[in-house]
Amino acid sequence: MADQNPHLPRAHQSLSARLLVLTVAFVMLAELSIYTPSVARFRKSYLEERITRAQLATLAIESMPEQAADTEMGRILLKNTDSYAIALKQADRRILIAGGEMPPRVDAEYDLRMESFWVWIEDAFVALAQRENRILRVIGVSPKRPGVEIEVYMDETPLREEMYAYSGRIFQLSLVISLFTAGLVYVSLMLMMVRPMRRIMAGMESFRRAPEDETRIFQPSDRPDEIGIAQRELAVMQDELRLALRQKDRLAMLGAAVAKVNHDLRNSLATAMLIGDRLAASDDPDVQRLVPRMFRAMDRAVTLCSQTLDYASATMPTLTLKPMQLAEIVRMAGETLNQEVPGAADAASFELTNEVPDSVRVMADPAQMLRVFENLGRNAREAGASSVRVAARHQDGVLVVEVIDDGPGMPEQATEHLFQPFAGSARDGGTGLGLVIAREVLHAHGGDIELASTGPEGTTFRLRLKAA
Ligand SMILES: Nc1ncnc2c1ncn2[C@@H]1O[C@H](COP(=O)(O)OP(=O)(O)O)[C@@H](O)[C@H]1O
Ligand SMILES: [Mg+2]
Repeated sequence: MADQNPHLPRAHQSLSARLLVLTVAFVMLAELSIYTPSVARFRKSYLEERITRAQLATLAIESMPEQAADTEMGRILLKNTDSYAIALKQADRRILIAGGEMPPRVDAEYDLRMESFWVWIEDAFVALAQRENRILRVIGVSPKRPGVEIEVYMDETPLREEMYAYSGRIFQLSLVISLFTAGLVYVSLMLMMVRPMRRIMAGMESFRRAPEDETRIFQPSDRPDEIGIAQRELAVMQDELRLALRQKDRLAMLGAAVAKVNHDLRNSLATAMLIGDRLAASDDPDVQRLVPRMFRAMDRAVTLCSQTLDYASATMPTLTLKPMQLAEIVRMAGETLNQEVPGAADAASFELTNEVPDSVRVMADPAQMLRVFENLGRNAREAGASSVRVAARHQDGVLVVEVIDDGPGMPEQATEHLFQPFAGSARDGGTGLGLVIAREVLHAHGGDIELASTGPEGTTFRLRLKAA
């Protein structure tokens, strides 16, 4: 395939190309904001210069005895100043130099004494926009003789052409400046950002291909800027990821081993149980005394096996969420717990009370959420509580659920290793998985669980859930 390297952007999509174009555009924009007032000023000085020239022309006529507009002299002066007519007004007198060809009409009139620069800008653009020649009547005062007012009648086209020429020059200059600036920006960006970015990119890619290959470790530079930080962060991240990956591999292998041990152990236990049943039939009083203990020990082993497997399979539950009543789940958990150990010592008097109103709804995977409440209820029962209440309230947009028991409180061993798999258990035959599973399920639902309080008067776990 003639395709480009898919991991480098196409030339026109690269960071540097975009910045190049943007720089040219921005500099041109900046130049435009300079151009606007300067073209207005250009027109203003052009017109002022015409007034000065006209005034010089009137000086020549003034000095002549007869103030005649149609003399040969007047015509020459008009020709030299490119005007149709020039008028000079003073308090007591008025001189008019008008050649033979007086213009038929005046299209626009401009007074140079006008103050507002915005109007100058507007007039300049109006002048630039004209298609036809206009005849202008321009009024100004002589810079040397403030009392004297001078009027000139003239064509606009030469002015407009000079304005166009001026604009062209400015445009060319802007283009040169912007290309030059853009070039500088391009080179510096290339050196300071794009190249190092590409190095980071290459580092990421080579890591992705072979994360375990230590020879491909990214070598960060010691630049103090953001890119330097990104490089160093990348190097650290790769290091940690590499370790985590190795750990994960080992854990996966361990998991497989545990599953196998579990499986074989259950088979052996099943055999042992069968033999135990036969033994139970014996009349020997010693055997009669010991067999129940052996059964209890084997029961515990079976529980451990099945809970470990349960944990392994629950680590990554794929949830099927649906909106449902929380109260429904709590009631179901209560039923399961009541059925579990009929007649056993710790089931003597135990009740799980639902105080969650039917109106409280959650988005949840029913089977998974059920395990949360079963595990919490079971823990309370096993700790010796006689009742567990489940209550819920809305608070700051989340659903806060509390599971409150009247048991003896958690032992220190359990609070120290709270939510740590296989470590948090403080009772005989416990696995320390119940709370861990509860927390994982809640995390998967976007919620959380914490120990709210524990003591001789009871233990409370607080759950946070997204309300549906
Ligand atoms: N409601 C509770 N009251 C007192 N202790 C509790 C309660 N819930 C949990 N615990 C303590 O926390 C430990 C860890 O619980 P859990 O994670 O379910 O593991 P396991 O039940 O297998 O021991 C338990 O062994 C128990 O000592
Ligand atoms: Mg438990």
